[in-house]
Amino acid sequence: MREINASIPFDKILWREDIEGSRAHVAMLARQGIVSAEDAGTIDQGLQQIAAEYERDGVPEDWDLEDIHMTVEARLTEIVGPVAGRLHTARSRNDQVATDFRMWVRTANRRAIAGIEAVLAALVARAEEHAGTIMPGFTHLQTAQPVTLGHHLLAYFEMLMRDRSRFADALARMDECPLGSAALAGTGFDLDRDMTAEALGFAQPTRNSLDAVSDRDFALDYLTAASQCSLHLSRLAEEFIIWASQPFGFVKLPDTLSTGSSIMPQKRNPDAAELVRGHAGRVIGCATSLMITMKGLPLAYSKDMQDDKPPVFEAAGLIDLSLAAMAGMVADSGFDTARMRRAAEAGHATATDLADWLVRQADIPFREAHHITGAAVKLADEQGVALDGLSIGDLKAIDERIDERVFDALSVDASVAARASYGGTAPQRVRQQVAAAKQRLGME
Ligand code: ARG
Repeated sequence: MREINASIPFDKILWREDIEGSRAHVAMLARQGIVSAEDAGTIDQGLQQIAAEYERDGVPEDWDLEDIHMTVEARLTEIVGPVAGRLHTARSRNDQVATDFRMWVRTANRRAIAGIEAVLAALVARAEEHAGTIMPGFTHLQTAQPVTLGHHLLAYFEMLMRDRSRFADALARMDECPLGSAALAGTGFDLDRDMTAEALGFAQPTRNSLDAVSDRDFALDYLTAASQCSLHLSRLAEEFIIWASQPFGFVKLPDTLSTGSSIMPQKRNPDAAELVRGHAGRVIGCATSLMITMKGLPLAYSKDMQDDKPPVFEAAGLIDLSLAAMAGMVADSGFDTARMRRAAEAGHATATDLADWLVRQADIPFREAHHITGAAVKLADEQGVALDGLSIGDLKAIDERIDERVFDALSVDASVAARASYGGTAPQRVRQQVAAAKQRLGME
């Protein structure tokens, strides 16, 4: 029982929140005349001493004391004697743990937002630098149309902006304090729940005591936001892994975020990116774990809910590290722009531009233009040249309506410049979006 029951090995991380919650609670009890000012003062002194001890020496792990709440109270009793017993008036560990955990998750949300903002800032800086850098854009990982690297990076900016708003939403929704809900039904003592809510930085107290002690939505909101964020980071990491492979050679990863091989001297492995990709699976596993823990629980508290903490602590460590790794990878990677351009030129990426030109200049229906372009691609392949390496004679032999002006449309530069629709890849549009991104981030 001692072994299955103890949560102190993992919930001792909550000691700051636990002590802060207890100090707010006892101050409120004193103001309401439920404990004397003198006893409250003694208790508060003792709690401060415990905080100093834990800060200095760490939290002792006595499994007989089960959890962080009993550990603090036991130490308080050692320090101030039986008056310590007054602290738990009008409180249960059920509202206590709900409050502590909410405060911890609140901080984790704020940390995630700061971590996301570091990646966002790096993405914007590199997008600005590479607004005009041409690379192949892919569908099915097959060369599709040329795009600009800035545009590609800003795609991740959009994803991570949505992630930031999911964490911010979660923060807004969890901004209610469960303390004072007691075990499940509220309490007969005349509490001032607004006072403790305010002291602990919450907008208001929770409205329903049964919900308050058995709600872990705040943890799930955090975990689902972290899941989506980690899957975006994983996709970005995957791109870096592909781009850093020798056949692509689009990017040289920072030395600080790669490793060598113990046997093959030529290798630089994208370990950090691979771990970000791997961590996403674990974060999603953490979210799944807590959902499954919660799904069958009747109201109110059940001990299953003690299992809410390990997945949240694990996911928080993983998402924080993943964000830090990707901020560094985006900021410090070296892009081989010449190689990206050559790759864009190699894959007939401007075939759509030829088709578009036929529609616009020769008024040919798009489907027919698509067919003519297919013939040109086939011929270019046979000759081993890019589309703009075909002679005008060859092109005219395919369709006589083609003339010299077509070559203006067939370069990768012309291709990206032409895609100037709102949200498109043209360098001018990317520069506009970079400026907008800076504003959205409050950078200028
Ligand atoms: N260690 C417990 C947890 O983390 C604290 C709440 C215990 N409450 C109870 N009624 N046993 O959930």
